[in-house]
Amino acid sequence: MSGKVVVFDHPLISHKLALIRDENTGTKQFRETVSEIGMLMAYEVTRDLPTLNIDVKTPCGIAHTRTLAKDVVLVPILRAGLGMVEGIMALIPTAKVGHVGMYRDEETLEPHLYYAKFPKTITESTVLVVDPMLATGGSVDFTIGLLKERGIKDIRYVGLVGAPEGVARIQKNHPDVDIYLAALDDHLNENGYIVPGLGDCGDRIFGTK
Ligand code: PRP
Ligand code: URA
Repeated sequence: MSGKVVVFDHPLISHKLALIRDENTGTKQFRETVSEIGMLMAYEVTRDLPTLNIDVKTPCGIAHTRTLAKDVVLVPILRAGLGMVEGIMALIPTAKVGHVGMYRDEETLEPHLYYAKFPKTITESTVLVVDPMLATGGSVDFTIGLLKERGIKDIRYVGLVGAPEGVARIQKNHPDVDIYLAALDDHLNENGYIVPGLGDCGDRIFGTK
């Protein structure tokens, strides 16, 4: 059985996504809005995190309440994944951050790893792989494989715009991983870009075009 695919249907997320899809939106607004969408998505992505029952002494009595059972580690895929980190951290300020540096070869569309560094406690944590774009799915697929090689089991993927091709690849190769997207688009073009998508997300976040 495949993991769940959650495509957000929320007016604020749709509104902000429309802003970053617009080719006339500049770097500052693009970067800020990517981060804001990350924050809004984090609330739902973390809805079923494991918790421990605890008792807390309040000034007026004992509250039977809950606390997070495990650490959360964010693993942004560089560069574009960095754009969502600050927003997600606004909701989970105790999260640790690992990094995977990867670029997609423009001809073959294959991912190439150039950097990987993870917190020591990552194996026992809930890991959120963060990359705004799920196109062929190669980058996310490779990253999840890298994490599984290290014995990490509790992995979720969080992105902004996905293509059906990328979703199918992750569902096939990692049926244990849930997928969270702000939108599921139509198809990939001949250059492996998502249509209608939002263009090159890394370039638009960092102003490198
Ligand atoms: C983009 C994007 C994803 C990847 C998605 O990165 O940020 O990581 O492509 O494509 P895929 O699903 O086909 O693997 P890119 O290689 O452009 O690097 P960048 O983030 O440094 O710009
Ligand atoms: N990477 C991007 O930044 N955009 C796409 O549409 C596909 C891959």
